[in-house]
Amino acid sequence: MTVVNLTMSPIRKRNCFLIFIGIVFVPFCFFVILSAPDMSSEDALVERIAELQVRIQYLDSMYRSRQEDLQQMSQHFDQSYNVDNNTSNSPHASDVKHAIRNMSGLHVASGLNPSVSIKFPTAYQFLPHLLDDPNSLKLSYMLSKNRDGVSLVLGIPTVKREKYNYLMDTLQSLIDGLSDEEIDDTLIVIFVAETDLDYVLKVASELERKFPLHLESGLIDIIAPSPGYYPNFEKLQITLGDSLERVKWRSKQNLDYAFLMTYCQIKGTFYVQLEDDIMAKPSYMTTMKKFALEKTSKKEPWIILDFCQLGFIGKMFRSTQLPWLIQFFQMFFNDKPVDWLLDYLITTKECNWDKRDNCKSDKARVWIHYKPSLFQHIGMHSSLKGKVQKLKDKQFGKVALFFPHVNPEADVTSGIKHYKQYSLRRAYHGETFFWGLLPQPGDQLAFNFKSPVLVNKFFFRSGNAEHPTDKFYNTTVEVQPVEAVNPNSNVLNVTQDGFVVVGKFDSAGIATGSIDESIGRINILRLNVHSESDNWAILSEIHIQEKMGKR
Ligand SMILES: *[C@@H]1O[C@H](CO)[C@@H](O)[C@H](O)[C@H]1NC(C)=O
Ligand SMILES: *[C@@H]1O[C@H](CO)[C@@H](O)[C@H](O)[C@H]1NC(C)=O
Ligand SMILES: *[C@@H]1O[C@H](CO)[C@@H](O)[C@H](O)[C@H]1NC(C)=O
Ligand SMILES: *[C@@H]1O[C@H](CO)[C@@H](O)[C@H](O)[C@H]1NC(C)=O
Ligand SMILES: *[C@@H]1O[C@H](CO)[C@@H](O)[C@H](O)[C@H]1NC(C)=O
Repeated sequence: MTVVNLTMSPIRKRNCFLIFIGIVFVPFCFFVILSAPDMSSEDALVERIAELQVRIQYLDSMYRSRQEDLQQMSQHFDQSYNVDNNTSNSPHASDVKHAIRNMSGLHVASGLNPSVSIKFPTAYQFLPHLLDDPNSLKLSYMLSKNRDGVSLVLGIPTVKREKYNYLMDTLQSLIDGLSDEEIDDTLIVIFVAETDLDYVLKVASELERKFPLHLESGLIDIIAPSPGYYPNFEKLQITLGDSLERVKWRSKQNLDYAFLMTYCQIKGTFYVQLEDDIMAKPSYMTTMKKFALEKTSKKEPWIILDFCQLGFIGKMFRSTQLPWLIQFFQMFFNDKPVDWLLDYLITTKECNWDKRDNCKSDKARVWIHYKPSLFQHIGMHSSLKGKVQKLKDKQFGKVALFFPHVNPEADVTSGIKHYKQYSLRRAYHGETFFWGLLPQPGDQLAFNFKSPVLVNKFFFRSGNAEHPTDKFYNTTVEVQPVEAVNPNSNVLNVTQDGFVVVGKFDSAGIATGSIDESIGRINILRLNVHSESDNWAILSEIHIQEKMGKR
């Protein structure tokens, strides 16, 4: 029974599948079109249809991979049970019989229907070390709600860095740029490309502390590979005359991209390659999706939509095309850096070697740049030790470097010397951000209110988009109440000079909170630095919000 099912014509099954899609999707299509908020707009309709087209492509490829599994299984059955040993099953069986009769005395007939199939090379031929460990392709860590079928999958590989790790800033920027609706239609996959499980757990716990709701909702997946996934990097071939250190770094990167893309391929229609040290423009998702659907509906044969001019950031692919990249990276992982491979892949697909002058424009037809860029590189330190990465995308344009607010009238003093025009007084008035040189323990930034204020909430943001590491570290927020508080209070933390500690800058560089009713009105609010810092310090947002009508 099973065998008969398995050997049923694949073409017929595929047709069934497409009819199924037709039954489910055509009415759905009309439903979606009719219920679209902007029915009159022809553009919206065209975009919807394009969206359904790419979705069907995606579902079809999902179906094909199931079909591949089935085919392998049925071949296995055929060989085990030899059910297909009957030439009269083949379409031209009667012709064949006839021909055989005419060949008496020859052995040719015995060559018919042999039980031998050819076997294509698989990833194991390119990465033979994968066979040394039965768990080589097993994940060593996965925190996931198994979200799939989304429009957009964002892949972010991250590795240990000697200096500052920008991953949390990157994610914050990506999530801030998504609306609630977009959040439901997106998956962000964090690939911790390290085999040190302690480190993986450290990153995962930091992510959970920082983004508990988004892990819970399924927006964020965290994965890590097994040690067996990587070859012995000491034994790599030295290529392109690079140092072993560099060969190791770029070879691992290729394998990391192949892993991440393979995991993400089945999760959604479009895949976007990102890095762990970037920031995003607001509404980047809608912009990308719209652009992709526009190209699709115009039947432009794109392969890459490029939303950042740098390296391997902000490149969008159809998930159905990822297998090309994955296999290409696997084949040449030891030979070239990933951005060259990507270029060679597109060259191979698009360029005519007899007309190589046209190659650039041939490639540009399928590798389409979107301007202005939606992603900017913020990292200064590359993950390759000692390589300082100062490349910035000039197409990104300006981003907000500070967020102005109206604050209560106050005298402003800073124990930290400011740089150029970036004074604390101007920052307090919302004219710029404050930028101070290397904070030392005991340095204070103080706001002396002209008349005592009853504070509802305070919010301080340190660091900014261009200098995310210029944060306040180990710095508390303290207030001096009009009415002295008991210095030995066991409810409040009171400093020796009678200030109450009401908050502290966190690892994201933010200090926020409200001030307990019992403290009442305050004369002074100050930031108090407790440790020496290796970085300068920026205050990009200062908001001291008074309680209304209680002056
Ligand atoms: C096919 O079946 C015949 C008996 O019907 C058997 O003698 C022969 O070995 C089979 N061929 C193969 C390739 O197994
Ligand atoms: C081969 O298949 C045909 C049709 O499927 C069937 O009629 C015939 O009996 C089969 N012969 C053998 C030897 O299995
Ligand atoms: C059989 O063989 C003869 C001579 O070899 C040839 O003329 C004839 O066309 C063949 N018949 C078939 C059906 O192949
Ligand atoms: C106050 O001090 C206690 C004990 O030292 C500490 O647990 C608490 O977090 C502090 N609160 C603030 C706001 O710093
Ligand atoms: C903050 O500063 C205090 C005082 O110098 C020090 O004891 C403490 O270890 C520092 N904390 C961190 C996290 O650096």
